[in-house]
Amino acid sequence: MGEVMKASAISFRCFLALVLVVLLLAVSGSALAQAISLPRPRLQSKVSVEEAIQARRSIRAFARAPLQFSEVAQIVWAAQGITESAQGRRAAPSAGALYPVEIYLAVTKGGVEGLEVGVYRYDAANHGLQRVSAENRTERIVRAARNQTWAGQAALMVIIAGEYARTAVKYGERAQRYVHIEVGCVAENIFLQVQALGLRAGIIGAFDDASLQEAATLPAAHEPLLIMPVGRPR
Ligand SMILES: Cc1cc2nc3c(=O)[nH]c(=O)nc-3n(C[C@H](O)[C@H](O)[C@H](O)COP(=O)(O)O)c2cc1C
Repeated sequence: MGEVMKASAISFRCFLALVLVVLLLAVSGSALAQAISLPRPRLQSKVSVEEAIQARRSIRAFARAPLQFSEVAQIVWAAQGITESAQGRRAAPSAGALYPVEIYLAVTKGGVEGLEVGVYRYDAANHGLQRVSAENRTERIVRAARNQTWAGQAALMVIIAGEYARTAVKYGERAQRYVHIEVGCVAENIFLQVQALGLRAGIIGAFDDASLQEAATLPAAHEPLLIMPVGRPR
């Protein structure tokens, strides 16, 4: 009888441990999957498009000061935000309106007020963010970018990725060309938006593709094509 009691006490403990593990996994999973709504974009600015074009430069030094949540919302909107809701058209043009571009944000410690460290994916349809990693990936991303250490000073790194298959459905082999052109359009939108906000950005194409994909925790289908470090001017 004693043996039976002991065995059932052990199984009960195992059961409790299992429940605890399942609960912990559910809590950490939901923290990652949690959708973060972003404030609506501002459509007015004190900086004209012409002034932003004239002043834009690739910047490689930033002040150690955080960005505001609303500034980050504005940047992702300029990159891929929906600007015409009837057909879901976005801020940057897209071949066949197939929208193969994905925007990820790598937020460093103290980089953005109101955003925890980690990697976030911009959800254009809902103008929101999804946290896909709760880790600070900045150092790993810098290493993947051939140790361009200046990028590590930025409050935020925007990673522009492309999913070629979305465009290939319609355009076959020309998809690669089109996705690259679209990434260029998105990057310039980010540059000009950052300028209008009084912030600064750099641009990085020199990185190891596989290392960056791993460092930024991107899914296999989302190939990283550019990094844009963003911060306050020094
Ligand atoms: C596709 C592309 C890749 C680039 N890669 C890097 C890079 O890896 N590191 C860097 O410091 N600058 C990089 N740049 C920035 C260029 O060096 C910069 O645009 C050029 O010197 C002109 O300066 P400006 O952008 O200030 O006008 C890149 C620019 C482009 C368009």
